[in-house]
Amino acid sequence: MYRAHPKDGIAWVTGASSGIGRTVALELSRRGYKVAATARRAAELESLAAESQNIYSFPGDITDRAGMARLAGEIEDLHGQIVLAFLNAGVYFITERDRFSADVVWRTFEINVGGTVNCLDPVLVAMERRGKGQIALTSSLAGYGGIEGSAGYGSTKAALIYMAETLKLTYERAGLTIQIVNPGFVHTAMTAQNDFKMPFVMDADRAAKIICDGFEKGGFEITFPRRLAYLFKAVCLLPYPLYFARMRRWTERARR
Ligand SMILES: NC(=O)c1ccc[n+]([C@@H]2O[C@H](COP(=O)([O-])OP(=O)(O)OC[C@H]3O[C@@H](n4cnc5c(N)ncnc54)[C@H](OP(=O)(O)O)[C@@H]3O)[C@@H](O)[C@H]2O)c1
Repeated sequence: MYRAHPKDGIAWVTGASSGIGRTVALELSRRGYKVAATARRAAELESLAAESQNIYSFPGDITDRAGMARLAGEIEDLHGQIVLAFLNAGVYFITERDRFSADVVWRTFEINVGGTVNCLDPVLVAMERRGKGQIALTSSLAGYGGIEGSAGYGSTKAALIYMAETLKLTYERAGLTIQIVNPGFVHTAMTAQNDFKMPFVMDADRAAKIICDGFEKGGFEITFPRRLAYLFKAVCLLPYPLYFARMRRWTERARR
């Protein structure tokens, strides 16, 4: 199984202007990678690039399909082949907690699923041609099973888990390593919106180390914190009446 190495080429990180993407970009540069950093806020990417001479700013909106194909080509023209793609950019709109909104659900799908697909496409083509490459998609524990108030976000994350499973089966014969990153709660701008107690919440630097260790190990799923992940996996195996009862209890406890 192929494991990316800094001497093989550059890493591409989306969602690198803040949170998990930013800390993973820094951790990868510490581990010797050149890193191409993408997000919409160019100023944030410039300040990230100022922290390491191995990080290069490639601003862009992942919902721009042609733009992402162009950007991936530019990264390879300027810095060599992309050997590790961490497709991590994503959004959660807190308004979906209160009521279902088609606009919010579509926008969440457009970014979390559509945007990831737009980045995947050029990277898969190039890596398949070369017969090697490593791609990790950021999903979430929220993708394991239905959580109250997460109709849009949770479904996009479930879709990404399915997509990664499918891509692994489809592309492993071509020499590609496909991974899914399923974090629990991490302190970032996204979770700063939450007004409930987040179980086992972790800081973004610690999350970045776990994710980069996972890239090096190469297993399919990189999930943390383990206790929460395995507990949630077990709950998802329960018959539906028990699953819903457990999920209601968790939601009530978090609200207290
Ligand atoms: N924090 C958690 O507890 C947690 C748990 C599970 C999963 N996750 C997932 O981890 C990933 C990173 O989230 P985070 O917690 O680090 O949140 P964050 O700090 O809000 O980071 C989100 C990143 O995505 C980028 N982004 C959003 N829309 C984009 C677009 N259209 N085009 C390009 N970039 C875009 C943002 O940059 P710009 O605004 O500059 O574009 C930002 O860099 C997300 O996929 C999230 O769902 C987070």
